[in-house]
Amino acid sequence: MRSIICKYVSLTCVLVGLVHSEEALVTVEKVTEPYGLSEGPHWEHRTQKLYFVDIYNQYIRRLDTATGVVTSAYVEHGPVGVVVPVDDTSDELAVGSGKDLILVTWEGDVDTKKVPFKVLTSIESSSSDTRVNDGKVDSSGRFWIGTMGNEKVNGDVPPKRGSLYRIDDTLEPKKEISPVTISNGLVWNIEDNTFYYIDSPTRQIAAYDYDPNNGTISNKRIVFDLNKINMEGVPDGMTIDTDGNLWIAVYGGHHVIHVNPKTQKLLKKVKIPAENVTSVTFGGPLLDILYVTTAGHNLSAEQRKKTPYAGSVFAVKGLGVYGNIANSFMLNGRKQSDEEKTDV
Ligand SMILES: *[C@@H]1O[C@H](CO)[C@@H](O)[C@H](O)[C@H]1NC(C)=O
Ligand SMILES: *[C@@H]1O[C@H](CO)[C@@H](O)[C@H](O)[C@H]1NC(C)=O
Ligand SMILES: *[C@@H]1O[C@H](CO)[C@@H](O)[C@H](O)[C@H]1NC(C)=O
Repeated sequence: MRSIICKYVSLTCVLVGLVHSEEALVTVEKVTEPYGLSEGPHWEHRTQKLYFVDIYNQYIRRLDTATGVVTSAYVEHGPVGVVVPVDDTSDELAVGSGKDLILVTWEGDVDTKKVPFKVLTSIESSSSDTRVNDGKVDSSGRFWIGTMGNEKVNGDVPPKRGSLYRIDDTLEPKKEISPVTISNGLVWNIEDNTFYYIDSPTRQIAAYDYDPNNGTISNKRIVFDLNKINMEGVPDGMTIDTDGNLWIAVYGGHHVIHVNPKTQKLLKKVKIPAENVTSVTFGGPLLDILYVTTAGHNLSAEQRKKTPYAGSVFAVKGLGVYGNIANSFMLNGRKQSDEEKTDV
């Protein structure tokens, strides 16, 4: 049972989807305009801002959830796969763009046509037909960042050209999982001993033992398989709640799914008013709002009319669970050199 009320509040169309369920009234609200391929949401808890990327349009975008204002910065370095703020700074972002990890300087309050950046490290060689995709930072500040083969004109992605890398403060990328086709969702449990990972076309969620001290993964097993539920599409971005259950965006599936990786059971489905749901993260003062990104790129005018919200970010409330604070990227020596400066 689902009803959509679209009411006009000044110029913004606010969409409220009411999903009937036994335990709670879950609402789905559109919180941004539709963009292109919106992906990689990162909630910066310190500033209460939601960062996300618009991959092919090459934008970093930032939603101020208090005002509803989105500001954007254009990155002149190729597709923008992922953005994570640098620890201990207010205007520096670690960004996966093209085949590289770059350091962008953007204070975030105003739209910027071309942001200044420098390349921190090349993740893949300039001759590879690949680009950076989703990534996330672990509890020790290391950036785990994946790649994929470039999409063909028909939308197909050539198989097994991508990998998942780990980048620590030496900035030397270390290949952790390879080959993969579309390196996507990744997250760690609160105990920090399990790493969950998605290579989208497998339609499976994998788990690995994780050692937080040296950042190693081992002992792969499958904890959920979309082939076992009646849902189209592929798993894309992913997050976890404080109960240890996963929230997974299903691209091509119109849904976010809630999965218990221990029992391998599907706990809940949340319908999103866009077919291609790309990623999820918890945000808000209490970390109880699930922010959901969707894709609306490469649509004809006719398709766009039929799916006006594709590419928007949505806020899902009333789920009754909480997320964890996201980690920021630790750049080598930064804290120390700043302290040295003030000592002098
Ligand atoms: C989608 O658009 C991007 C650029 O906006 C282009 O690079 C890509 O080839 C297009 N994909 C398809 C399937 O048309
Ligand atoms: C990482 O640490 C674990 C446990 O402490 C150990 O078993 C493993 O061999 C270590 N791996 C590396 C590459 O050092
Ligand atoms: C969803 O993605 C598929 C495959 O990339 C594409 O064919 C379809 O047009 C997309 N739908 C929307 C609404 O963006």
